[in-house]
Amino acid sequence: MLYEKEKQMHLHKLQTYDEMSAAAAQIFSKQITEKPDGVLGLATGTTPIGLYDRLAEMNDSGKLDFSKIRTVNLDEYCGLQPDHEQSYRFFMEKYLFSRVNIPKGNTNLPNGAAQDYDAECKRYDELIERLGGVDLQLLGIGNNGHIGFNEPADFFSGGTQRVKLTESTIQANARLFADASEVPDYALTMGIKTIMLARKIILLANGGKREIVERALYGPITSQVPASILQVHQNLEVVICEEN
Ligand code: F6R
Repeated sequence: MLYEKEKQMHLHKLQTYDEMSAAAAQIFSKQITEKPDGVLGLATGTTPIGLYDRLAEMNDSGKLDFSKIRTVNLDEYCGLQPDHEQSYRFFMEKYLFSRVNIPKGNTNLPNGAAQDYDAECKRYDELIERLGGVDLQLLGIGNNGHIGFNEPADFFSGGTQRVKLTESTIQANARLFADASEVPDYALTMGIKTIMLARKIILLANGGKREIVERALYGPITSQVPASILQVHQNLEVVICEEN
């Protein structure tokens, strides 16, 4: 069974975090070179920081051009202004956007400070559609199997929506806030359907995620482990490393 599943995905098993980041950067580099005005779906969190460092280096040395690239991020906390240090807009500016030659107007995240969340979710779905969908979607994975902020649930979600974060996600993300009580309870996230419509997906995970990655890739496909749906994606690259 293990081998059958591995035939459907490209699995890159690396030793170190640096090697994982380099392998992911190669996949992004190929994508950007082949389609310089393509749409990249991006993620935040600890896992992709090394990848973003490498993309910034490649841009700096003239190997990669972001001037026509468009980006859509997976998610954003509700209630945080874009300039809040823990907002995902702030994260993206810090780790990628300010370091490459991408026009700010080409970068998109759900607006967590929107007055009307339903209207904001609709706007974001329409935007992704207008851009022609996502060419390459980057994903990390939560300890509970979430992708984006699509938490374990009774069904797989569709488009962008407002979700209540689970206690395990709040605890996992508390490390970036002064205190767990400051982690917002809600977030806006791209839905599972939109993620699955990406023409190519790359899932990045370090050794600390070994157990949930196993469950997601080789266990039953269930909305209780949202990432398990990736097993049926036709163009999935899994890039993992042993190191935590
Ligand atoms: C972040 C996101 C999340 C993270 C996941 C893993 O935009 O969509 O699903 O990818 O929580 O986070 P890290 O990389 O911090 O372990």
